[in-house]
Amino acid sequence: MSAKIISDYLLAASALSEGKLVALPTETVYGLGANALDEVAASKIFAAKNRPSFDPLIIHQSNWERLRAYVKEVPPAAKLLADTFWPGPLTLVLPKTDLVPELISAGLPTVAIRAPAHPLTRAVLAELNFPVAAPSANPFGFVSPTTAQHVADQLGSKIDYILDGGPCVVGLESTIIGFPKGEPTIFRKGGLAVEAIEAVLGKPIAIRTHSSSRPEAPGMLSRHYSPGAPMEIFPDLSEAPESALTNARIVFNHGGQPMSIQGMTTTYDLSPSGDLAEAARRLFTVLRQIAEQNFSYVAVVLLPETGLGRAINDRLRRAAARE
Ligand code: TXA
Ligand code: MG
Repeated sequence: MSAKIISDYLLAASALSEGKLVALPTETVYGLGANALDEVAASKIFAAKNRPSFDPLIIHQSNWERLRAYVKEVPPAAKLLADTFWPGPLTLVLPKTDLVPELISAGLPTVAIRAPAHPLTRAVLAELNFPVAAPSANPFGFVSPTTAQHVADQLGSKIDYILDGGPCVVGLESTIIGFPKGEPTIFRKGGLAVEAIEAVLGKPIAIRTHSSSRPEAPGMLSRHYSPGAPMEIFPDLSEAPESALTNARIVFNHGGQPMSIQGMTTTYDLSPSGDLAEAARRLFTVLRQIAEQNFSYVAVVLLPETGLGRAINDRLRRAAARE
């Protein structure tokens, strides 16, 4: 099989209705979609991604009304967040109803739901009378795709169609919020800034730290997003040892200044002008470019820990994690 890259949303919708795998553009990253209510179709997602069955999937539809039947016991804060940020880069984890197959929730009593913002995918969803299960369209543990070509490069031989909606405008996966004991809690930092969420809730939100054994959200596994090359994290470029600068480095806000110390260093500036949204959009493309270069060493300078910088740093730290 070799995936067809298409732009016809009706074709994408009919393929999904027939139980096929279709990669879909969202504002965050490309998703690998299948009918969430059809266990045979959804199981193809796990096979194509080589994803362990303990890792649950997010289900997508165009709005709250069309996702409502799949969740119960909705805390007021969950509805408030959906009303404020949907469609958008926010996923809510809530107790599931029996309509959600066990395969989707990986046996958990909860399900993750999201209304994505990309107009083409919203047009697909509007055609369907079922939600679409969609993890990021990359092999398990690898960097998420932000263009149709990224999907074709890594999963092209395993899926039927890729709906091309152009490059993703956010570039980081959605922020995931669950409600353990009714309290809103961030399970995964992502494309919606923590500050924006706290402004709506009117109070600070708890943030779950990573766990590698029983991950609350396995996107939280400590090693993820690996570009293959050994990476080392530095709070500041001046602290990176000289030898570290002979290969490649990821920096932010250096104004496009040449920074080559020994003439051999490839510098990837996530945003020369210091724009965190631009850095988020570019992050996964840069990690892919690094993966293609066979660098033996990459020095990474962290971004400011504010807004999207927190989610970006989180991915950089995990890309650098050894095991
Ligand atoms: O932006 C996104 O969220 C993209 C686009 C395609 O929507 N999707 C995405 O899916 O990033 P995925 O599968 O790569 O990451 C979803 C994360 C996983 O870490 C999974 O473990 C977690 O969500 N998750 C799903 N259901 C969950 C649940 N019931 N409880 C806790 N975590 C859950
Ligand atoms: Mg993923």
